[in-house]
Amino acid sequence: MSAAPYFWVVIPAAGVGSRMRADRPKQYLQLAGRSILEHTLDCFIGHPGLRGLVVSLAGDDPYWPSLRCASDPRIQRADGGVERADSVLGGLRTLNELGADTDDWVLVHDAARPNLMRSDLDKLLAELATDPVGGLLAVPVRDTLKRAGSDGRVRETIDRSVIWQAYTPQMFRFGALQNALAGALAAEVAITDEASAIEWAGQSPRLIEGRADNLKITRPEDLQWLEQRWKS
Ligand code: CTP
Ligand code: MG
Repeated sequence: MSAAPYFWVVIPAAGVGSRMRADRPKQYLQLAGRSILEHTLDCFIGHPGLRGLVVSLAGDDPYWPSLRCASDPRIQRADGGVERADSVLGGLRTLNELGADTDDWVLVHDAARPNLMRSDLDKLLAELATDPVGGLLAVPVRDTLKRAGSDGRVRETIDRSVIWQAYTPQMFRFGALQNALAGALAAEVAITDEASAIEWAGQSPRLIEGRADNLKITRPEDLQWLEQRWKS
């Protein structure tokens, strides 16, 4: 392991949170007295390696200005877009204006993952510091996996030892990530995370095992689970 490198951060926060079925996008729901987004930002702000951080927001976002962190000079606002990849590209454009260089590391982390531990962030940074490609936090699947047929019956059991769940942060070089995301979008390839854009560009991101509790708040029960956990 090498010493942690310096890095930039993009937090895509322009989603609507349809699966949460709440009255506002999930990153603005309350968790232990503050918004989910503020907890998410906490893990990065004040980190000694952090060069700059941008939050990609929907153009008509009425919630951001009322957060205390909106006036924090260490946090910049960027333009979100229709898809998550558009929001990340918007963030990269703003990082470019802030002085990010082609070979600088950029970490992309979901606004909806408020339980990232500093130890996992530091592990990712240290493990990938000298990696030629970059990589992501990920978790080996725990359950037995089944492939379903169209009749709703099991076709086969899949070898779970080679299956991982992709988490964030995902960490790549600024120039490589920007090219891969822009190229994949132009080619109309469906990409759901930064790693899949890098894979589309022909490279293999490294999997760094992280904590399973760095979960993405997706459905109401995820938020209830985290609330209970933080209470105890
Ligand atoms: N995101 C974004 N821009 C988009 C879509 C998503 O910045 N156009 C962000 C979300 O705000 C979230 C992260 O990407 O922090 C992960 O996306 P997801 O969990 O799918 O969030 P939503 O798209 O908001 O939720 P849903 O899919 O349930 O509508
Ligand atoms: Mg979504």
